[in-house]
Amino acid sequence: MTSAGAEGFMPVAHDLDALRAAAAGCRGCELWKDATQVVFSRGSASARLMLVGEQPGDVEDREGEPFVGPAARVLDDALEVTGIDRSELYVTNAVKHFRHHLDQRGKRRIHDKPAVAHIVACHPWLDAELQAVRPRLVVCLGATAARSVLGRPVRIGAERGRVIAPDQRGAVPWAVLITIHPSALLRLRGESGWDAAFDAFVADLETARSTAQAM
Ligand code: URA
Ligand code: SF4
Repeated sequence: MTSAGAEGFMPVAHDLDALRAAAAGCRGCELWKDATQVVFSRGSASARLMLVGEQPGDVEDREGEPFVGPAARVLDDALEVTGIDRSELYVTNAVKHFRHHLDQRGKRRIHDKPAVAHIVACHPWLDAELQAVRPRLVVCLGATAARSVLGRPVRIGAERGRVIAPDQRGAVPWAVLITIHPSALLRLRGESGWDAAFDAFVADLETARSTAQAM
């Protein structure tokens, strides 16, 4: 890593439009070089529920929108069962550029998990989004999102599904709930574990929704 993170690319104004425009020029780590474009977020500044994913995938990188590819279909199915409308959500990612490598033939782009250094470099964007939206509850989809939101390593198996209450000092006024990443579910499609895994994902989203409503 040669750059010092996104901090130096922050705009003066921290509203979502200003953040989105500034993020397009971010060079805070090397991931922008091989990506098509930054993928910032989707949703309204007044959303009560914020969903944080890992990073854009291949389709998101091309379209410039978060969660529009295969993982999004699983996510959308689960949201529908839960009764959560996408319009109620603010959806973003811990890392805003698609980390990947080319396959041996140099054709297909293969997803690489972002390194901790990328999560840290990109964190100022997520932090500014949190401050701009001030959601009631943040759902972390997977370990990368949880690491960025909580600022520490997280084991999904040990921590998923329960509500981490807002920090009473007011520094962090939103609750946090950790669940699996929908692409982990995608890998189970057609396998015997699918139903239970999907139901558990829906249950986590239901907890998130009812908690945000009650806050
Ligand atoms: N996976 C993510 O974590 N985010 C996206 O936007 C798409 C796939
Ligand atoms: Fe900036 Fe994040 Fe993209 Fe790195 S991944 S260049 S920190 S927006």
